[in-house]
Amino acid sequence: MSYKAEYDRSMNDPEGFWKEKAAALKWFKDPENILSQDEHGIYHWFADGEMNTAYMALDYHVEQGRGDQLAIIYDSPVTDTKTTFTYSELRDAVAKAAGMLKGLGVEKGDRVIIYMPMIPEAVISMLATARLGAIHSVVFGGFAAPELAQRIEDAQPKVMISASCGIEIKRVIEYKPLLDKAIELSAHKPQSCIIFQRPQATSPLIEGRDYDWNDLYPQAEPADCVPVKGTDPLYILYTSGTTGKPKGVVRENGGHAVAMNYSMQAIYNVDKGDVFWAASDVGWVVGHSYIVYAPLLRGCTTIVYEGKPIMTPDAGAFWRICEEYGVKTLFTAPTAFRAIKKEDAEGAFIKQYDLSKLVAIFSAGERLDPPTQEWLMEKSGKPVIDHWWQTETGWGITANLQGVEPMPVKLGSSTVPSPGFNVQILDENGVQLARGEQGYIALKLPLPPSCLATVWGDVEKFKSGYLQTFDGYYASGDGGYIDQDGYVFVMGRVDDVMNVAGHRLSTGEMEEVVGGHPAVAECAVIARDDDLKGQIPMGLVVLKTGVEIDEATLAKELTQMIRNSIGAIACYKDTYVVKRLPKTRSGKILRKSMRQMVNGEAYAVPSTIDDVSIMPEIEALLREKGVIG
Ligand code: COA
Ligand code: AMP
Repeated sequence: MSYKAEYDRSMNDPEGFWKEKAAALKWFKDPENILSQDEHGIYHWFADGEMNTAYMALDYHVEQGRGDQLAIIYDSPVTDTKTTFTYSELRDAVAKAAGMLKGLGVEKGDRVIIYMPMIPEAVISMLATARLGAIHSVVFGGFAAPELAQRIEDAQPKVMISASCGIEIKRVIEYKPLLDKAIELSAHKPQSCIIFQRPQATSPLIEGRDYDWNDLYPQAEPADCVPVKGTDPLYILYTSGTTGKPKGVVRENGGHAVAMNYSMQAIYNVDKGDVFWAASDVGWVVGHSYIVYAPLLRGCTTIVYEGKPIMTPDAGAFWRICEEYGVKTLFTAPTAFRAIKKEDAEGAFIKQYDLSKLVAIFSAGERLDPPTQEWLMEKSGKPVIDHWWQTETGWGITANLQGVEPMPVKLGSSTVPSPGFNVQILDENGVQLARGEQGYIALKLPLPPSCLATVWGDVEKFKSGYLQTFDGYYASGDGGYIDQDGYVFVMGRVDDVMNVAGHRLSTGEMEEVVGGHPAVAECAVIARDDDLKGQIPMGLVVLKTGVEIDEATLAKELTQMIRNSIGAIACYKDTYVVKRLPKTRSGKILRKSMRQMVNGEAYAVPSTIDDVSIMPEIEALLREKGVIG
């Protein structure tokens, strides 16, 4: 099959194309209404189909005789544990966990927040929620209590599921105090919390609210799958926008299942029985899509890895897993490969392991920088494929489609649009730009299945944040260009969102925290390029008049404040005190110009700047401090 034929069909006859892809799954009632629009003009897929995602991902495979095949391999170097679940075992565990939630009153449409480390119970909790037709919202375990509190307040969960602790290499991170603090901070209180007690740290439970997983689960009655409509939400996943408040991306059951299954075939070229490993975390979209749902919908074996690319115990960790479980496809973020490369530049570890079953390595989360891509291709001898996607889409917007027609790799490009995605480069007025010209990357509506249906509880935010920038398009927030061969080059965000080790964070949110320090009059948090993590934040602060505090003390205090409010994953360390910040006459801080300046790029200042001497003043100061080379 040629890529062009597949792609053109998805553009010329989207309903016929996706109806055919939907038929690959087992629905309770097949969808007839393939693409529809609601009263807000927003597109939805498979509105009249009836289904259950957990059924499609588990029960159906068991019914098809794949019950004894491995569904999950859990490998945890940090606890020295390895366990497996067959499809039958996982289905039974999920049915019991669903029964446990049902016993606490969870019904179709209720929200369940899951705040857990990378353990099988996290996956079981997600699928159990889906089994009941309820809506999960997984919160990454590295987020601090106020971040969790924001999500509790917005999603209003009936029940929360957490674990007593996570393990970061050798450090035990207690989750329960964070959970308690978050509930205290939130105006909404969940009715119940289920805590999975781990032996590394058990937590005291609050009577009447908290339940021990190990008490409830053994006695729970297995619960059946609850049928839902294709357009009923499966999950809410919060992601950073440009404001301080994260946006709840809503994913609908039908479109999600169809796109997940299709992407496994078209992008990754994997099938039933193949071992697929996304080395990420269930708290991120990559984890939702490619640790949990897509591999299971496709009937693959997925790996739940509780460890790091290095230090657990060394830079051979990923290759060990690939050999031990016969991984066919490995998928992770560039930062993980950069960490491995730093420790093992010669690729000595790669040589130690048998990677004969590994067919391809995929990367996403941030742009795969050409030196890392070249290094990995050379050392592994495998195709290394970049693909571009977002929490909002749930799967690759652009990719090198291994199951359709593999294309030559161009370094720095995430290749071509996936079927269903009409990718265009626009100028600031929404006018389409010519090949080779750099601009805003926008996706012409309708978006294909799986893309966000709304922002939870705030359709106006969905419209203003994504649909109103360019009429008839979804604004991706990324900039880039398409070359003469149709290859897409994504060059980075055009807004105030930054990407730290593949984790998407809002500079605005960090500014709210930094601005909350009693000594700070105003501040700008900007993204600085980093060899390992891609970007790291840096704060430029103006002190309140008359305040005396030395820079090192302030930096330490701000670092702690960011860790307490957002989490250690923000990797905030550097603070510089400046006299003034550059602004336009209307008061807008010139973040983009400062970002270009600290990264040694040529920077432009708008003609509306209120004082032209400020930028050179800051540049000289940062040069003196060695920030700019
Ligand atoms: N729970 C609690 N804390 C966490 C956490 C979690 N789930 N994940 C990270 N943290 C903490 C770390 O312990 C660290 O804390 P510290 O500053 O007190 O040491 C901090 O957050 C930063 O962690 P991390 O980004 O993991 O940096 P690192 O320097 O420890 O490790 C890498 C560097 C490259 C190994 C690591 O960033 C990595 O594995 N990246 C891959 C990320 C990824 O898979 N992203 C996928 C998105 S698709
Ligand atoms: P997230 O929603 O956390 O997955 O982050 C999405 C953002 O990460 C995108 O908007 C991009 O800025 C960036 N991103 C993800 N994958 C890529 C890629 N392959 N190339 C360039 N940027 C990427």
